[in-house]
Amino acid sequence: MDQKARVTFGTKLGIIAATAGSAVGLGNIWRFPSQAAQDGGAIFVFVYLACVAFFGIPIVLAEFILGRAGKANSAGTYRNLAPGKKFHYFGYFAILAAFLIMGFYMVVSGWTLEYLVLSITGELGRTQDFSALFANLRNNPTAQITWMVIFTAATAGIVAFGVKKGIELASKLMMPLLLLVMLILCARAVTLPGANEGLVYLFAPNLENASSAGMRILTDALGQSFFSLSVGMGCLMTYASYFGKDVRLVKTAGTMASLDTSVAILAGAIIFPAAFALTTDPGSMVETLKTGGPGLVFIAIPQLLQSLPAAQIWSVFFFLLLVLASLTSTISLLEVITAFVHEEVRVTLPKPIRFQKTKPENGVLHQEYRIARPFAVSVISIGIIVLGIFCSYSLGDHSALKVFGMSFFDFLDFVTAKLMMPIGGIFISLFAGWYLDKKILAAELSNEGTIPLRFFKTYSFILRFIAPLGIAVVLVVGLVG
Ligand code: PHE
Repeated sequence: MDQKARVTFGTKLGIIAATAGSAVGLGNIWRFPSQAAQDGGAIFVFVYLACVAFFGIPIVLAEFILGRAGKANSAGTYRNLAPGKKFHYFGYFAILAAFLIMGFYMVVSGWTLEYLVLSITGELGRTQDFSALFANLRNNPTAQITWMVIFTAATAGIVAFGVKKGIELASKLMMPLLLLVMLILCARAVTLPGANEGLVYLFAPNLENASSAGMRILTDALGQSFFSLSVGMGCLMTYASYFGKDVRLVKTAGTMASLDTSVAILAGAIIFPAAFALTTDPGSMVETLKTGGPGLVFIAIPQLLQSLPAAQIWSVFFFLLLVLASLTSTISLLEVITAFVHEEVRVTLPKPIRFQKTKPENGVLHQEYRIARPFAVSVISIGIIVLGIFCSYSLGDHSALKVFGMSFFDFLDFVTAKLMMPIGGIFISLFAGWYLDKKILAAELSNEGTIPLRFFKTYSFILRFIAPLGIAVVLVVGLVG
């Protein structure tokens, strides 16, 4: 492929905004609180933080290194860095993961869009029973599918325009605003009477609360850390292929991971105090949380918003930002597959006669064409919508769409976040630690020797041993324990 012509992100701020925009999303605001609730709070949170530090960040950095050195989509990157080898299968694995994640992520994104519209029309403000509202939504596949399709189309529209115009701009505007609104909501939540219990649940380790989750906490926390950081499935690798030469990879990885983790903790510090303070039944709150599942955010936050002055304005603002946060994540997911299709897949079509210099001897001449981004995006989106329809139907209370006892929705979440992303992380760390030439590793970390190279040995040790072995142990113990 023509490497010189590869587009890059415009500014350094744009890079942070795009990578953090990918990382910050429903994973932080919807998935993190619901996992923490199910697993009994604080112990989960600490294991999650450890996974971010020991496995997540080093692999984020490895994806940046591979992506910028390989300068292609996730399969092409492996092919460029290891020509003639079979490592590009890791890339295919990542592309499959991106597709499966979008299957359920678009459905939840659709919920955010519906809540935005309910806020605008004022219906959310008139609701008395937020749990019933959420349950109705999940049992109404038609509405759910409609919102999911609209969201997928919006993502597709932005990705079709290409990297710079769509992705960078959307992220740059949204991130600071989101943080601001979340800080305000947090201030409101923690000052409600009774909020303290929620903070205790989230931050004070309590064996009794965590006991019913048992070793599952390990897989849950590992999966959450990878999912939230967007790491382990080629997404950051694809973005890093658009990084310019002077981007400082270590710094970018650090900034992005701290932003992402702060937003998750902030989301927890809004939702748990709000849930405890606003419940009518504080006695059984801990039990409710453990079974609360995916509805937590969509029940606790609307309730909290109603306790603010000018509730409707806040509600519109919050759900608008949530929609945008999801959008910058779905964009990054769709880009993984789009870059792959656009760069790797060729179609062979007959060459139009008027362009032929030589007369074909037997039959017509053929020519290979690339698939244009808009066309690639459309075809992929149709696939995502089909997956999303199955997910939507599987959420109803009486749905028979179950795989291994889980709804199809939960099954996709489980397979991707808890299996494919950590396994993808093992592949990435092994490839970067063992196969990749140390000189490339050092050159990328030091921007060709122009900035100091620190902790190189430690980092290389983490990639070779700590990350792959640690992830494997956590995964296996969590799954069988
Ligand atoms: N990290 C995103 C979030 O937290 C989800 C995501 C996962 C995005 C994998 C891209 C790749 O919402």
